[in-house]
Amino acid sequence: MSLPTIDHSDEVYEDPLDLMDEIESLKKEKDATLLAHFYIDGEIQEIADFTGDSLKLARDAVNVKTSTIVFSGVHFMAESTKILSPEKTVLLPDLTAGCSLADSCQYGDLDQFQQKLRAEGRDFETVAYINTSAKVKSLCDWIVTSGNAREIIDRVPTDKEILFVPDQHLGRYLQEVTGREMILWPGSCMVHEIFSIQDMLRAKKNNPGSLVLAHPECPHSILEVSDIIGGTEKLRQYVMSVKEPGIFLIATEANMIHPLQKSAPQHTYIPVPGIMASSGETCACNRCPHMAKNTLQKVRDCLKYGKPEIEWQPYFDQAKDVLQKSLLQ
Ligand code: 13P
Ligand code: SF4
Repeated sequence: MSLPTIDHSDEVYEDPLDLMDEIESLKKEKDATLLAHFYIDGEIQEIADFTGDSLKLARDAVNVKTSTIVFSGVHFMAESTKILSPEKTVLLPDLTAGCSLADSCQYGDLDQFQQKLRAEGRDFETVAYINTSAKVKSLCDWIVTSGNAREIIDRVPTDKEILFVPDQHLGRYLQEVTGREMILWPGSCMVHEIFSIQDMLRAKKNNPGSLVLAHPECPHSILEVSDIIGGTEKLRQYVMSVKEPGIFLIATEANMIHPLQKSAPQHTYIPVPGIMASSGETCACNRCPHMAKNTLQKVRDCLKYGKPEIEWQPYFDQAKDVLQKSLLQ
């Protein structure tokens, strides 16, 4: 597996505070709203009009009143926003901000696999994690986020099998909590896949009473020693519900500590590090290199020049039906 790397070498240094001021005035001038996922740099989250998990942002986007939305996140998120709000101009600061999970399930491969299952006489519905391309979504019956997955799985008729794509770890976890058997696609997230279990257990031992909070995109080996498992919003709600100061080890993208700290500053948060498979050394692999492509400069530039923009594609129509019934109804 290739390791996440974060490269900002093409950017000339500019004062972050000046950039933040410039973005604030450009938002007004261009009639734009800025949305930022919890995995985006804290400085961008600070100037965003809405922050949240995939589910909340998808819902917030449809209520936005401005003509333009800047989505500080990754491609599938901005694409879903365009699909749910076709009349808006949707900008993504860097069009190459992808997602290893979305990449692990390609349209042609899924189409072929579904055809094979049908030829075998299997009667199934396909449930896709929102971390998929719109083209893949157009082949699916349901879309889930980490925030609504259980509720959606309950809507799949019990006489149908479930093909769950693309995250095998989330799928395995959902099998456990819903009791539904699933055919699992072998995809995974490059960030959640490589948390160091040894470092996590050591940190737990060195911090008596600490709790591990993990995203269900983590492999079973991490989830089985975690205390709280949930999508990013669920983790945020959890720390807010604990009044006494605690110590939490965070097994998800490291920027998640920003909204946790902001929402529940009484606690101490320790990021669980990633591990380099080749050398066994721990590293900053707990940062998503795709999310990290959203820099203040790129947010400013996309507002200033009105691009890169997510353009409407013919297959968006079909993806729209499945997104609407899964996320908005
Ligand atoms: P949520 O914020 O919906 O939990 O998703 C996490 C994620 O991996 C986004 O890429
Ligand atoms: Fe995709 Fe993983 Fe990055 Fe989320 S953290 S955008 S799942 S690569």
